[in-house]
Amino acid sequence: MMLRQRRTHPKVELHNHLTADFHASLAHDVREGMTAEQKRLPSKYFYDAHGSRLFDRICTLPEYYLTRTEMKILGDHAPAIMQSFARGDLVEMGSGSHKKICRLLKAANGTAGATLRYIPVDVSRDALLAASRELARLFPHLCIKGYVADFTAHLHLIPQGSKRLFVLFGSTIGNFPGPEAVRLLRNVRTIMAPDDRFLLGLDMAKPPHHLNAAYNDSQGVTSAFNKNILAVINRHLHADFDPAQFDHVAFYHEEKEQVEMHLRAREAMTVRIADIDLAIDLEEGETIHTEISRKFTPESARMMCAQAGLDISRWFSDPRRWFSLVELAPRRA
Ligand code: TRP
Repeated sequence: MMLRQRRTHPKVELHNHLTADFHASLAHDVREGMTAEQKRLPSKYFYDAHGSRLFDRICTLPEYYLTRTEMKILGDHAPAIMQSFARGDLVEMGSGSHKKICRLLKAANGTAGATLRYIPVDVSRDALLAASRELARLFPHLCIKGYVADFTAHLHLIPQGSKRLFVLFGSTIGNFPGPEAVRLLRNVRTIMAPDDRFLLGLDMAKPPHHLNAAYNDSQGVTSAFNKNILAVINRHLHADFDPAQFDHVAFYHEEKEQVEMHLRAREAMTVRIADIDLAIDLEEGETIHTEISRKFTPESARMMCAQAGLDISRWFSDPRRWFSLVELAPRRA
C-alpha cells in the first residue's frame, strides 16, 4: 500500500509494510513471556502513542545523559560524518524524533549540491509522519520515502542503487541481547554495498551511579514509562493489570554490563488476560523483566561489530566518552 501525502509535501511518500497481525504477535509474545520461569515482556511494546511521549520526556531528563550527549556529538561531528555523503540515501532505522537526523541533513546541506534522499523506517506510522512533515518543512528540497515497517525484518524492501548511509541512533542496539544484536547488524551488513556506511549509536560503560540515576529519574517518568507496557497489554488483550500494584526496578548489572528493567509485584496477585485466556499468578516481590540496556566498552563494541562482518571505520565520541557514534563499513572479503 502506498499513501501519498500530497497535502503536506509532494516529495513525501509513505509505504506501509506492516500487516495487521499486531494483535496476534502481541498475544503470542505475552503468552510466551508471562508463562516463562522468569516472566518477561518484550520492550518493543513500550512505544504506543503515550509511551512514545513518555520516552520523549525521558530524553530531556537531567539524569538521562544519553540523548543530550549524542546530540552534542552530532553538533560537533556532523560535518565530518557527512563529508563524503553529499548524495545518496540516508536510511534511518527507527525514526522517533527528527532532531538527530536534522543535524546530519543540515551538515549535508552545507555541502555544495547536496542531493540526499531521506528513508525513515519505523513501526509507528504516526511517528514517521510527524518526523517526515517536520523535515519536509525544514528542507523543502529533500525527497522523503518513508517505510512503515519493522527494521529488524523488512530492511531488504528499501530501494537499492544509490550510495547509502544507514543510521541507528540512541542506545537501541543495546536493547537487544548479544546474539540478536549481532543478527540485526549482520542483516544490515548483507544489504550493504562496499561503499555504504552504517552510523551506530552506543552507550558506553561508566561508573554505575550515573547509569542507575539515568534509569531511576527523580520525577518518576521512567517508572511511568516502564509501567505503560501494562496499560498497552490491558488495552489490546483485555487484561486487568493494575499498574499501581507494581514498582519500577532498574539497576546496573556490572558483570553483564547492562541495565536491567523490571516491574515488581507489590503483593501476591492474579492477573487475567482475557484475549489469550490466561490467568497468571504473581508472588509478592516477583518481577516481570521488561528491558535490558547494554553498555559497551571499545572492545565489546568492536567484537560485536566484527561478529556481524562490520569494521569500525571512524569513531565519534564526547570528551568523557560516555556515548559513541561509530561509523561502520562492511568488512572486505
Ligand atoms: N533505548 C532506551 C535505553 O536503553 C530505552 C529506555 C530508556 C528504557 N529508559 C528506559 C526502557 C526505561 C525501559 C525502561 O536507554
